Amino acid sequence: MPEVLTTIPALRDRVGAARLSGRSIGFVPTMGALHAGHKRLIDLARSECDLVIVSIFVNPLQFDRQDDLERYPRTLDADVALCSASGVDVVFAPSSLEMYPSPPVCVVDVGRVADHLCGRFRPGHFRGVATVVMKLFEITQPDRAYFGEKDAQQLAVIRHLVSDLNVPVEIVGVPTVREADGLALSSRNQRLQPGERRVATVLYEALKDAQARIAAGEREAARVTAAAREMIERQPAVKLEYLEIVDPLDMQPVARIDGPVVAAGAIWVGGVRLIDNVICVPP
Ligand code: PAF
Repeated sequence: MPEVLTTIPALRDRVGAARLSGRSIGFVPTMGALHAGHKRLIDLARSECDLVIVSIFVNPLQFDRQDDLERYPRTLDADVALCSASGVDVVFAPSSLEMYPSPPVCVVDVGRVADHLCGRFRPGHFRGVATVVMKLFEITQPDRAYFGEKDAQQLAVIRHLVSDLNVPVEIVGVPTVREADGLALSSRNQRLQPGERRVATVLYEALKDAQARIAAGEREAARVTAAAREMIERQPAVKLEYLEIVDPLDMQPVARIDGPVVAAGAIWVGGVRLIDNVICVPP
């Protein structure tokens, strides 16, 4: 069983002892409701680091909607069981009061990398992510931290965070884990009704269509996105939020595709918001 620590001083003691004995620290930050996608991150951390820490904290600062925060699944016992089965050493599960004894005055502001995609529709979201990740890095002092590529924009934000602020943590991006029909694993999938679950794959299908068009030589991003958006709009049970082609490093939209790009989208299926992305490489 992993040690479950809920206070910052207790975690700092554990980290300090590991550092003194020269052990490397791998860190997997999560908001819980762990699934096979998280397990992939944990397994990689386990294979590369001496001490593996998983944090489970539903970070209020990154939610732009109160109802989303309240409905976010909280499954600590099952999460600890998954961590235990995966050989995690420490689960850090602080309360909101432990992480934010008072509303923070200092936050990490995120520049243009958050201007598009999710950043456009979730004001303040990436500021909340960058702030909590910076705090978690300060607390856990990891050598390596593991993030899923499903959240491509989040990964780009974190990469900028460590490079712009000289944070000595190696960021490891881990490929998206999918269901057999292509749906990207997400803690939000468990809120889909059976009929919604069936149509939720349309986002991945549209992104794969974009990928195929680019691989076949289409260079105009507008033509690629128009076809992909149309596929989604044909599905009446799904509402398209965005579908864009962006640069993989700064997440800015590209007009002409001259190198690898990311096709990324967000849809609403009933009351559930789903995101996904694929890397597209021109011939
Ligand atoms: O990806 C997530 O689960 C969260 O955004 C993270 C990185 C744990 C920060 O709260």
